[in-house]
Amino acid sequence: IFAGPIAFLKSAPDLRFLPDPVALEVAFAGRSNVGKSSLINALTNRNGLARTSNTPGRTQELNFFDVGAVELQGGEVTPPLFRLVDMPGYGYAKAPKDMIRQWRFLVNDYLRGRAVLKRALVLIDSRHGIKDVDETLFDMLDNAAVSYRVVLTKADKVKASELQAVMDKTASQIRKRPAAHPEIIATSAEKGMGIPELRAAVIEALG
Ligand code: GTP
Ligand code: MG
Repeated sequence: IFAGPIAFLKSAPDLRFLPDPVALEVAFAGRSNVGKSSLINALTNRNGLARTSNTPGRTQELNFFDVGAVELQGGEVTPPLFRLVDMPGYGYAKAPKDMIRQWRFLVNDYLRGRAVLKRALVLIDSRHGIKDVDETLFDMLDNAAVSYRVVLTKADKVKASELQAVMDKTASQIRKRPAAHPEIIATSAEKGMGIPELRAAVIEALG
């Protein structure tokens, strides 16, 4: 599936611009700079599909990617098999107040109103673990009853022993959360680590 056609569909700065819900969705959420866009590129094996950046707060809209949409002869396009959604990052230290407000409204409305959203993958930096701002997102997901799974990113930046420690700690921190999947996936977009597991997790989420 990830070797087939995948294409950017559209960007939604607010809910009026959401695409018609014609396919199931798996969303990528997490703090600014945690590596959401990079992981989507690694997952799909396409550099530059999702825009990555060193500047935190680069992605401020919901970005939708069609997986498996095929253009037929004559130009008609089939519906996608499913969609990946790159969500705007949060927890950016220099974010102005109205940007934070806008994030909260957009994300909350999307999580609460999107019946086709099957799961959110919440990305956490392997070096930092869960922060207070992440707990805020977990609360929103639990309240919206959207199932989610924690994915550690940038695993290449820590030693194997530290990675195991942060995986154990993270698992214990989410254990009592009702909508959280108990198993954590460790990844590195840079080194390709955990990418097969992540692909399996996306497929599982759709099932
Ligand atoms: P926003 O869109 O601002 O919310 O950021 P994002 O979460 O989409 O992060 P992005 O993918 O743009 O990556 C941020 C920075 O982290 C970039 O400089 C990436 O090169 C770097 N990065 C992402 N994944 C990895 C990884 O697995 N390992 C390492 N070492 N660096 C990574
Ligand atoms: Mg991004």
